[in-house]
Amino acid sequence: MEDKTHLVDEITGHRRMRRNRKADWTRRLVQENRLTVDDLIWPIFLIPGSGIAEPIRAMPGVFRLTVDKAVEAAKEAADLGIPALATFPNIEMELRDETGSNSLEKNNLINLASAAIKKAVPNIGVITDVALDPFTSHGHDGILRGNEIVNDETVEQVALAAVYQADAGADIIAPSEMMDGRIGAIRHALDAAGHQGVGIMSYATKFSSAFYGPYREAISTGGLLKGDKKTYYIDPANGTEAVRDAALDVEEGADMLMVKPGLPYLDICWRLKEAFGLPTFAYQVSGEYSMIKAAAANGWIDGERVMLETLLAFKRAGCDGILTYFAPEVARLLAKR
Ligand code: PBG
Repeated sequence: MEDKTHLVDEITGHRRMRRNRKADWTRRLVQENRLTVDDLIWPIFLIPGSGIAEPIRAMPGVFRLTVDKAVEAAKEAADLGIPALATFPNIEMELRDETGSNSLEKNNLINLASAAIKKAVPNIGVITDVALDPFTSHGHDGILRGNEIVNDETVEQVALAAVYQADAGADIIAPSEMMDGRIGAIRHALDAAGHQGVGIMSYATKFSSAFYGPYREAISTGGLLKGDKKTYYIDPANGTEAVRDAALDVEEGADMLMVKPGLPYLDICWRLKEAFGLPTFAYQVSGEYSMIKAAAANGWIDGERVMLETLLAFKRAGCDGILTYFAPEVARLLAKR
């Protein structure tokens, strides 16, 4: 019999990777990345009315909240130390039209929520989206003329909507509709309205993804959407194009960048962080959340560990933070440690 111990020694020499892994204390000592509550942005869904928290079938543990309930959620988030919320409205079908005109109502659902949250919980950040999909009767992010989502007209409208959102108290505008030139137009409009302090988190690289399914149920756009969003979102096959798209947003004045969806696009997170060095965020989208919840509910994976592992993976990929529906759950868990 050959001496196997001797053989391994000959191969490894003095190099033994496992020395640093041998105990909990060594592992903690050499750990490169860490997830903290400061990394979390909590996306929440809004509905009209009061006193209601309505479950979303495709997103176990996530609710559509009336403004008063959203204020309660904001207080809870602030108590947990979560830095910011991102709000998404599910408005009445009667208010949705071809151009998403409700986005220009100063007292629409998203603006009422921002005002109420900032009044009750001034120290939590409020991030709002200006995409038109919650407001259009066709579920597209922009204005539909014939068969086309028209770019420049949409940009004008979202820039104005951004000003109203800032007026209502939004701290950061996060435009997700992927129209060309939107970042510069929003920056101009905000500055002209005296909102120099309001930031822009660009959904710089938003991919045409199937992972958004549960979100479309959450804001009731799933049944409305005619066709797909391939003429404005990025093809999942394209990484270099995503970097070019982000470069334009950086030039136009984005303060922060976002990659969406998250986990299937970690390479993009890394490339953007390396290329621009801006604060970079990943959006762990609804489908990513629901897959974990569904597998955990079936006993196929340890949901808590998978949740933490995915969030840590974003940090390793260079992200400064993560938009995640897990935010309150993970914040509670981190507080216990
Ligand atoms: C659209 C928008 C989407 C999401 C947020 N805003 C994608 C879409 O419906 O096409 C997805 C968020 C998620 O899946 O969690 N502007």
